[in-house]
Amino acid sequence: MVKFTVVSGNASTDLAKRIARKLKSPYIKTEKKVFPDGESKITINQIPKKSIVVVVQSTYPPVDSNLLELLSIVSKVQKFSSKVYAVIPYMGYARQDREFLGGEIVTIGVVGKLLKAAGVKKVLTVDIHSKIVSAMDVLVKHFKKLKMKEPLVVSPDMGGQERAKKFANLLKTDFIALKKHRDRKTGKVNILSDRVNVKNRDLVLVDDMISTGGSIVKATQFLKKQKCRRVFVACTHALLVNDAAKKIKKAGVSQIVSTNTLPGESAKVDVSRVIADALK
Ligand code: R5P
Repeated sequence: MVKFTVVSGNASTDLAKRIARKLKSPYIKTEKKVFPDGESKITINQIPKKSIVVVVQSTYPPVDSNLLELLSIVSKVQKFSSKVYAVIPYMGYARQDREFLGGEIVTIGVVGKLLKAAGVKKVLTVDIHSKIVSAMDVLVKHFKKLKMKEPLVVSPDMGGQERAKKFANLLKTDFIALKKHRDRKTGKVNILSDRVNVKNRDLVLVDDMISTGGSIVKATQFLKKQKCRRVFVACTHALLVNDAAKKIKKAGVSQIVSTNTLPGESAKVDVSRVIADALK
């Protein structure tokens, strides 16, 4: 049997503990101290014994600081193990994976180089641009318990069609995808779809992540105009920056359900089993 040791960064302590339990592996905590000048000092509490070392750290805001913490932990533990895996349940910069406007730097490529240079042999992330580990099954399990009337799954954009299809299949219902346009300069979102038939149905808007909430707000406003019943939101990563949760509620969303790839009020679905199984 493969032997793992799970080391947590400070952004993912709870999830790391859960993953360690599922893997029946030792768990090591790290400490983070931030100095008045903004620099941080990371200390590892214990030296990992001979094993594959799995460092768990999501890189949600403060993204760069959480990323540097991850790199620091990896650079330390690789001295004690020839195999260091980085589990980054929510991976910041994943959306910056191509040059959308001339001159833009593809930062996820830089992140990849940094991880490799620090000593990471394998990266595991959830949902964002990764088909390997998906949280859709566990999210659907949660929604099966809700009493919904004629549920319909909705993707807020065409890019999320496959995800919505999978979600709908598991929920044993149908799905639609809206046409969304995002202005690459201002970040403003608009829904370009015409009429959709959602009347009197409960809707589940499925997305990989919510950042500012712009996509969900616009989609909900559009769907409400089409006389749907309730709107639920299922997403893997609920960043909900600034007042996103408030804006989404105001638009008419009944409930946001997300996973614990990052902590928060809506993080009701645990992905530790999915991650542990993918590591094994
Ligand atoms: C992008 O296409 C993603 O799937 C999400 O829809 C998007 O990143 C959400 O961002 P925001 O909440 O800022 O609209």
